[in-house]
Amino acid sequence: MKKLNSACERLRKLNDSATAIREIDEIKHQANMLEFEVLKVHKIASSAIELAGSPLPSHNLVLLLDDAKALVHAERGVIFICGDDLDNCDIVTSSDHDTINDNRELECIKAISKESLNLNSTLHFSDFQEASAEYNIDMPARLLCRSAIISPLTVDVNGEIYTIGVLYLDSANEENSFTRQDRVIIESFTKIAALTIRNIRLSASLQLSYLETVQALAKTLEAKDPRTIGHSERVADYSERCAKRFKLNKDRQKALYSAALLHDIGKIGIREDILNKPGSLTNAEYEHIKSHPLISEGILHGLTFLSNEFRILSQHHERHDGKGYPRGLKGDDICLEGAILQVADAWDAMVSGRIYRDALDVGEALKELQDNAGTQFRPDVVTEFIQMILEEGILPLDPMIDMKQDDFSGYDN
Ligand SMILES: [Fe+2]
Repeated sequence: MKKLNSACERLRKLNDSATAIREIDEIKHQANMLEFEVLKVHKIASSAIELAGSPLPSHNLVLLLDDAKALVHAERGVIFICGDDLDNCDIVTSSDHDTINDNRELECIKAISKESLNLNSTLHFSDFQEASAEYNIDMPARLLCRSAIISPLTVDVNGEIYTIGVLYLDSANEENSFTRQDRVIIESFTKIAALTIRNIRLSASLQLSYLETVQALAKTLEAKDPRTIGHSERVADYSERCAKRFKLNKDRQKALYSAALLHDIGKIGIREDILNKPGSLTNAEYEHIKSHPLISEGILHGLTFLSNEFRILSQHHERHDGKGYPRGLKGDDICLEGAILQVADAWDAMVSGRIYRDALDVGEALKELQDNAGTQFRPDVVTEFIQMILEEGILPLDPMIDMKQDDFSGYDN
């Protein structure tokens, strides 16, 4: 009996440890699955962040499609980018060669995608026989054995559906037939992707409105001082091209371009009889003119989305040697964009002329830039700007500019 009890005890222990091992294995399996799901969620978030941080050229949509395919191990995929009308859409295919290029297949996929869009709901078929029967679509044999997920790229804005397109994924591998979980993952993915795409589009549209506003403001100034017609645009163009030569990133180039368009906006606050005075200015009049950068700051103050432009344009009459205005900033206290704007502004003023002096020819203007490098202008900016002019030439001027020389008082503009 003792032996039997002892054997039972050993068996019970063995059984307990076998159960424990099974439970441990199960927990390990669950942990692996959880880690896998966490990685997928991380991938979805990363895709959204990447998308949010960039404009939306078609190659980003290809990356988006590739990410979606990788999430559920899809073999093929396509994104239809459309408004409300799927018949007129752009088609984004994935970057690999296993893509959908059969027209009949594509038409069937589009038909089923239309259903997903109309329902504004993700469709999931374990095979296309099911879809073919449910939606009465005559499908080519190549499609029938495939498992598919079709998910609309839509955003619900207070009950109004904003449509971007549809994501379609399929797989012919029976072992990798899409699961309910895959459907949920893709549904989350398309929701985030659609929201991100919409935000990018909104942001692009806001930026366009902003640029149009900036241009309208610059035109207002030209109406007051017709002799400067085209000046802001030319200065913006010179500045942007020079910024590219310094390899400034796109955001800095854009801020400089807008700052250049707006750089003299404060002249709106300068009396017209002084702005248009053909002769020499009195000291008091010159001081009044010199207030225009501060007037610009007053106009733009508080517009936080213009903070970079604000900083650049407020420096356009500062000088490298610290003898400029309004703050007497010196050397590196002036940002590179501000230093570029100074040179571009002075250059255009020299070659187009002003009411108080004739235009210089290109050779004379280049010499003036060179002579003032290190005093009025930052030397490396002058070097790069001169190189740019020598390589690319100057912009055409407006033919209406016809001025007499009364004096020449530097390159302030
Ligand atoms: Fe100015």
